[in-house]
Amino acid sequence: MFPIRRNRRLRTNEAIRSLVRETYITPNDFLVPLFVVEGKGVKEEIASMPNYYRYSLELLKDEVKTLWSLGLKSVLLFVKVEDVLKDNKGTEAWNPNGLMQRAIKAVKDVCPDMLVMTDVALDPYSSYGHDGIVEGGKIINDATVEALAEMSLSHAEAGANFVAPSDMMDGRILGIREALDQSNFIDTGIMSYSAKYASAFYGPFRDALDSAPVDMVDVPKDKKTYQMDFANRDEAIKETEMDINEGADIVMVKPGLCYLDIVRDIKNTFDVPLAVYQVSGEYAMLKAAAEKGWLDHDAVMMEQVTSIKRAGADIIASYFAKDVVKLIS
Ligand code: PBG
Repeated sequence: MFPIRRNRRLRTNEAIRSLVRETYITPNDFLVPLFVVEGKGVKEEIASMPNYYRYSLELLKDEVKTLWSLGLKSVLLFVKVEDVLKDNKGTEAWNPNGLMQRAIKAVKDVCPDMLVMTDVALDPYSSYGHDGIVEGGKIINDATVEALAEMSLSHAEAGANFVAPSDMMDGRILGIREALDQSNFIDTGIMSYSAKYASAFYGPFRDALDSAPVDMVDVPKDKKTYQMDFANRDEAIKETEMDINEGADIVMVKPGLCYLDIVRDIKNTFDVPLAVYQVSGEYAMLKAAAEKGWLDHDAVMMEQVTSIKRAGADIIASYFAKDVVKLIS
C-alpha cells in the first residue's frame, strides 16, 4: 500500500520549494525603529541590543540614507531625553524644538520620501518612567490623552507622516484624531499600538531610552494598569476594534513571536493593515544565543520574520530589518 499523495515531491529541491513558497520577505515589509540622542557625532551601542545604536542628529541622517539605499522606506522614531527635561506631565514632548521634532525634520531633510512614524507616549519624557501622568499612585487616563494629543500635533507640525501611540490609554486614538483634524492635519495617519501587552520583553528598549518605571513610593512599578494582560486573547479583538472605530489607520500587535495567535485573530477579523512589533527582548535573545554559538543567527532571524509575516503581519517593525535586507539582497 503506497501513499497516493506524496507531499514530499513539492520539497524535492530549492527550485520547487521556491515555486510553491507561500511567504516572501522583501524590504517593503519593514518599519525600522531608530533611537535618537542629543549630542554631536554620537553613535552609541545599546548594551542589551548588540549592533543597535542611538544616533545623534547628524549620524541619524547618515543612517537614514543607508536605509533608503537598502530599500527600507519607513522609520519609527524614538528619542532618549535628558533627565533635566523630564517631568510628570512630559511637557518636553511637545516642545517644537525638542529632540523628536528636530529628528523628524532631520530625516525629512536628508530623505524627503522616507515615511516617518513617531512614537507617542510620555515614558521617555516622564520623570516616573510611565506612559501617562501619575497622580496619587495611579496613571490618570483623560489628562494623559490630552497630553498625547498635544504631542501628536507637535509631531505632525514637525512633518511626521504617522503618529504611533504606544501608551494604551483609553480613548487616545479619538483624542489624537480630533486634535489632528482640528488643526487640518487630515493626512497625518495613526498607527495604533492597539494590542500592546504588558511584556517583560521590553527590557532592553527601556535601557536604550532610560525609560523604565522608577522605583518610588506612590509610583506603580509596572505598566499593568494600562498595557494588556498577556493571558488574554479576546481582549485584543476588543481593543483593536475600538481603535479602528476611533480612527486608527494601521493597528498593531506587540510583542511579536509569543503573540502570533493574536496576529492571526486580528488578521482574520479586521480589514485594516496590521503591524507587528518584534520587540527589543526578542532581538536581544537571538543576539545573545548567537553570540554563544547556540543558534544560527541568520537562519533563526529569517525563520522569525517569515513566521511573523505568515501569521498575518502586513508590516513588521523590527531591529533586524537592516540585517534581513542585506541578507536577502
Ligand atoms: C513606549 C514604548 C515601549 C516600546 C515601544 N514604545 C516600551 C514600553 O511600553 O515600556 C517597546 C519596544 C521594544 O521593546 O522594542 N511606550
